[in-house]
Amino acid sequence: MAYPWTALLSSAILLLLTAPAALSAFDCNAGDRAALLAVKHGLGSPPLLATWLPNTNCFAWDNLYCDTTTGRVYNVYIYDAGVAPGTPVPAAFGDLPFLESLSLEDMPGLSGPIAPSFARLSRLSLLGISNTSVSGQVPAFSDPIRHIILI
Ligand SMILES: *[C@@H]1O[C@H](CO)[C@@H](O)[C@H](O)[C@H]1NC(C)=O
Repeated sequence: MAYPWTALLSSAILLLLTAPAALSAFDCNAGDRAALLAVKHGLGSPPLLATWLPNTNCFAWDNLYCDTTTGRVYNVYIYDAGVAPGTPVPAAFGDLPFLESLSLEDMPGLSGPIAPSFARLSRLSLLGISNTSVSGQVPAFSDPIRHIILI
């Protein structure tokens, strides 16, 4: 006699468990996606970023985190992408206004100064740059930055 109720309860629980997956099906911000595609292009479209494809939902892309309620990208981490020597730091990172954390590591080919556009990243609190050929100063940020960490 109790069995149908149990089955109903399991269905309800299953529905609750699958709901978050359904919510995350909405798309990330179009401007953020365009900026990420420009970053990928600037890095020479490395195989590491093969999931970064036009007309796809950037929630499904590797090497980043996107806020599930706002659709804004807040964390990008690119390690060991095998970029060619002399590849400049893509200025398009400056077009990710909700970026809080950016890591660029193990890319000896990544060269030159940190793009001045980084000064626009007013929410950036962690910038990790390690084992690259990046040199020079961190741009003057318009807003006070809490913790910029250069590794
Ligand atoms: C720097 O990155 C390159 C490319 O991934 C790697 O081969 C090398 O071992 C790294 N060097 C250090 C000191 O981690």
